[in-house]
Amino acid sequence: VAAAVPQAGGEAGNAALTLLRRVGVVDPTDLDDYRAHGGYSALRRAFAIGPAAVIREVTESGLVGRGGAAFPTGRKWQATASQPARPHYLVCNADESEPGTFKDRVLMEGDPYALVEAMTVAAYAVGAERGYLYLRGEYPRALRRVRHAVDRARARGLLGDDILGQGFAFDIEIRRGAGAYICGEETALFNSIEGYRGEPRSKPPFPVEQGLFGRPTVENNVETLVNVLPILNLGAQAYAAIGTGGSTGPKLFCVSGSVARPGVYELPFGATLGELLALAGVRAGLRAVLLGGAAGGFVRPDELDLPLTFEGTRQAGTTLGSGVVMAFDDTVPLPRLLLRIAEFFRDESCGQCVPCRVGTVRQQEALHRIAERTGAAAAGDIALLREVGRAMRDASICGLGQTAWNAVESAIDRLGAYE
Ligand code: NAI
Ligand code: SF4
Repeated sequence: VAAAVPQAGGEAGNAALTLLRRVGVVDPTDLDDYRAHGGYSALRRAFAIGPAAVIREVTESGLVGRGGAAFPTGRKWQATASQPARPHYLVCNADESEPGTFKDRVLMEGDPYALVEAMTVAAYAVGAERGYLYLRGEYPRALRRVRHAVDRARARGLLGDDILGQGFAFDIEIRRGAGAYICGEETALFNSIEGYRGEPRSKPPFPVEQGLFGRPTVENNVETLVNVLPILNLGAQAYAAIGTGGSTGPKLFCVSGSVARPGVYELPFGATLGELLALAGVRAGLRAVLLGGAAGGFVRPDELDLPLTFEGTRQAGTTLGSGVVMAFDDTVPLPRLLLRIAEFFRDESCGQCVPCRVGTVRQQEALHRIAERTGAAAAGDIALLREVGRAMRDASICGLGQTAWNAVESAIDRLGAYE
């Protein structure tokens, strides 16, 4: 893990704003150590200002979801808080399964009490008495750490019927995923918690109206929730001063592939891709960088001045997603890599809707044919891939099918993969 300090806020501000600042510093099993490093000051402030003001702060901070979709967090919280139907639920999506994403794991293993505190703040803001933490099954250490933190917090009155004597009741239940990528899709995740097959539901209705058990539900990613602590500790304005106008705050980036120092890097939004790769020690012969994971897109080595912001990557026709940055040098055979991505989507499609169930298979077959011909596309292969890709994007129920062609398309159009 490597942390780079955000640019704004002054010395004291920087220390409080860095998402990774306790990782590797505190004992993740020790609640007192967490408190000695600033833990539970955000919850105390939340109790002092009340739920409506907490939502206002989060809205004014400009925080958007860090799971990949960048939806405004304050809007989500407000929409749930204002629903008359009861109960309200909070669900933390810790089913971090996007290939190349491992930032939530680092937070949960290194600073588990931060997540427990952040979930408590969120629940207080939206009026939820119960929270579910849906944790990726392949993260046994994160499970141990978070479970221990929940148990200790409960034993010390930081979860339960009367948190900090404020008359607010909230508790957290941990559920483990069982290895299905699709269960990270929020509505498939709800189905999984409810005991059904992990298949996405059609949206709308959105979870803020009808989510878990059909009730108003806020679903947030781990990193999104952890950002709420510096927002409350420093105030929305100081937080929003970090990054850019369109992408506020610090961001965790997961750098892997052809680099000397793979790991999780914290940078303010607005740093360039080249700056990030320089920190990670990019190797000679860089051929391509995959941003946003398997559902994301490739950029070329001549595009390293790309600013790492939601607006900048969108403008450049790519995506930041959940912060995946995978570097590939010229020893990596691109056709094999694309085939591997296609196999992943074929295997992980839940099969519920035809465009994705059939499309991911056709895509994998075409890429297999191309890879067998040592990377040469026959007449018709590319046209078929485009036709299948369009159908998946336009007609699939959920994000898996809608994005399954993204990486392949960008490899063809931006990298000239089969020329
Ligand atoms: P989405 O754009 O459909 O929704 C994003 C969030 O905003 C959801 O919580 C949704 O309920 C909410 N929302 C959207 N419109 C709303 C409205 N009008 N009112 C209230 N709430 C609304 O995106 P989705 O499918 O939830 O996520 C896709 C992203 O997830 C992709 O960017 C992908 O890269 C990322 N992803 C991340 C993974 C990870 O491991 N972190 C794994 C797989 C995908
Ligand atoms: Fe399932 Fe794919 Fe349809 Fe999503 S798009 S519901 S993963 S078949």
